[in-house]
Amino acid sequence: MGLPLRNRFMKILGIESSCDETGAAVIDADTDNPGIKMLSNVLATSLALHGSTGGIIPEVAAREQIKYIIPVIKQALEEAKITSPENELDTIAVTIGPGLIGSLLVGVETAKSLSFAWHKPVISVNHLFGHIYANWIKPSLSDESRNSASIQFPAIALVVSGGHTDLVLVKQHKQIQWLGGTRDDAAGEALDKIGRLLHLPYPGGPEIEKSAKFGNHKTYKFPRPLMYDGSFDFSFSGLKTAVFREVQKDKKLSNMTIEDISRATQDAIIDVLVYKTLKAVKQYSVRSLLLSGGVSANHALREAFRIEIDKQKIPIDFFVPENYLCTDNAAMIAAAGFYNPTDLSWQKITAIPELYFD
Ligand code: KG4
Ligand code: ZN
Repeated sequence: MGLPLRNRFMKILGIESSCDETGAAVIDADTDNPGIKMLSNVLATSLALHGSTGGIIPEVAAREQIKYIIPVIKQALEEAKITSPENELDTIAVTIGPGLIGSLLVGVETAKSLSFAWHKPVISVNHLFGHIYANWIKPSLSDESRNSASIQFPAIALVVSGGHTDLVLVKQHKQIQWLGGTRDDAAGEALDKIGRLLHLPYPGGPEIEKSAKFGNHKTYKFPRPLMYDGSFDFSFSGLKTAVFREVQKDKKLSNMTIEDISRATQDAIIDVLVYKTLKAVKQYSVRSLLLSGGVSANHALREAFRIEIDKQKIPIDFFVPENYLCTDNAAMIAAAGFYNPTDLSWQKITAIPELYFD
């Protein structure tokens, strides 16, 4: 479609449906003023449904996406005070992958239909880029405290979520180089599996964070695989095995044991993430560090980064999105679309479940 993707001011409808969250958001972006204004950011989640099964069942997630997608988009437009999308929106940005095929298809096909109906171009967005670009969003119109203008390139980004643990070098918008990633479980996936071993509610990440606050850091010491191997890769599946062994020894699992294991699990994950990420920061002499993804909502992880950057006097600016922008949402997809526009007609856009960093 012939509309320029680079007007100075752009209103973008973002759509996210890669997993168990259905999101729609409207952002207002201005090429001359870095930082994205969020006009609305609506989310429906089928998380509670997955609690009973301790994990996501893809068919259930896809069915929920179908139920929520239209109401969520309607609400996002309403909250952004958009009454005539044909006239007021500039473009639509949609997650095409990575993710669950059934879930992705719901967002992608909806975006294509709206593109056809409203005569708007569609930007296809990599969900992992979305997480990184959550760092460019100003949380609300009144909050000018976050100055995204100061995100300088090159930057290192750590994407640490339920499905991914990746370290990338962001040289410029549209120029992202993958440095390393997990060889087995993602950090969030390990937390969720360990949460299940400890009989904590799903998802395990936030529960382990709560429980770890009361834990003694000396009771257990879990492995920190690949920490000093010189690569930028990670491995977290051994951690799950180590916890499993402890749980086998003490099947009664007192609250104290749960808290101590939570603490040791969190400490092991944080140590590896901080060490490897700061190694990349120093090796590539970058100017900014961007945390992103669901696990970066973890307070202890954010603090550990701040402390270590201070201690080592590393001259970088450290960014981490507001908590609610760390986990899946559509505002981050719209932001990534704005800075990384694609120029495909809607007919050419398809869901790509296995999409990765190029
Ligand atoms: O980014 P996200 O919403 O979805 C994916 O793209 O995967 O991340 C979800 C993951 C889950 O594994 C969840 O346990 C973890 O993020 N998570 C946390 C916290 N909040 C969410 N992990 C540790 N501490 C938290 N506070
Ligand atoms: Zn995600």
